[in-house]
Amino acid sequence: MVQVSRDLQQELVLLRVSMEQPAMQYPEIWLRDNCQCPKCYMQQTRSRLPHGWNNLDTGVHVQQLSWCAEQQILQIEWSDGHHSDYTYSWLKERDFSLENRARYLRDIYRPEPQLWSGQQFEQIQREFQYQELLSSDEALLQWLHHLAVYGLALVKQAPLEADVLRNLCNRVGFMRRTTYGDEWSVRAQPGASNYAYLAAPLPLHTDMPYFEYKPGVTLLHTLQQSDSPGGWNLLSDAFHVADVLRQRHPSAFQVLSETPVDWADMGSDKDLTFHNIWREPVINLDANGRYKRINHSIPQRDSHFSVAPHLVRPWYEAMALFSRLANEQACTFKTTPGDVLTFDNLRMVHGRTGYDDTDCNVRHIVGAFVDWDIAYSRWRVLRRSLGYFK
Ligand code: OGA
Ligand code: ZN
Ligand code: ZN
Repeated sequence: MVQVSRDLQQELVLLRVSMEQPAMQYPEIWLRDNCQCPKCYMQQTRSRLPHGWNNLDTGVHVQQLSWCAEQQILQIEWSDGHHSDYTYSWLKERDFSLENRARYLRDIYRPEPQLWSGQQFEQIQREFQYQELLSSDEALLQWLHHLAVYGLALVKQAPLEADVLRNLCNRVGFMRRTTYGDEWSVRAQPGASNYAYLAAPLPLHTDMPYFEYKPGVTLLHTLQQSDSPGGWNLLSDAFHVADVLRQRHPSAFQVLSETPVDWADMGSDKDLTFHNIWREPVINLDANGRYKRINHSIPQRDSHFSVAPHLVRPWYEAMALFSRLANEQACTFKTTPGDVLTFDNLRMVHGRTGYDDTDCNVRHIVGAFVDWDIAYSRWRVLRRSLGYFK
């Protein structure tokens, strides 16, 4: 038996299913805005119809409230003369209680990231088989989920062929193109125009911090690995690093999350000449203080630093701490041909140790990107189709 009532002071409609459970709650104005009748909502496009919004009556309130037990429908007569019906399942999904909102954010919006230290690498490390990712939706979902939660996943047993990254990205949705094209080759090149295309050590960095719309997920396919002792991968969870800084050095944390830095990449690749700049702090937080994005790349930090001069030294002091911590927290491993290293480029900093490059000792990595919007969308579609939610 469902009981309906109103909390007049908070302008809430309450729905109680049992005495043991707290009532489900809905702000009145929200109910009016989300009326599901054909005048207010278009089934075919699954979207709200916009009329009424040019002259929105925010004083609208419930005139009469009833529960139709037979059809399991909440019925409301509004002060503006409108009538609305809401089904039980629709309401239950949208209950404003703290628990239901937390469930929605965790199960449908995005999974909760789990931050990890370098020492925890063995525990969080997971391998996925390339062929399985192509053929099994469940495997694809597990890979995307692991990537979202831990920011890192290793794909094994990919063929040493050109279409591996394209196939993986197409399973997710589509590749993210950048000024370096759809895919880019990392190998030691004489006269290289990008620092990564040298055999020198590549310090910890995020890819392409100079883009406002930075690529979300990096995929690195090892085609040839150097036999020299170098060419090891370094990876560090920079959200964890930021968290350590926040606890141990709060003022440095504040400096790195508030001081804008100029990130830049000028040059050309194939036929395209570019001048990319984006200005943003190293640690980017959302409105709730949660980690949103890390920017870091020594070669791609501009010599333009467009902040007041007194902010410069504190930034260097804070950055020296961040850099030291990121290196302390880094895990290391060396991929072998057929591995595809995939990681969250908004969160992880990655690099490699230097290697010897000769004609008979070559290292060749191919890189590509896929965006998080596309990856999360796929994650949700898969979760629904595989029955993780209705
Ligand atoms: C890069 C990069 C990693 C590697 O090119 O941005 O991170 O192992 N390369 O060479
Ligand atoms: Zn309506
Ligand atoms: Zn990189």
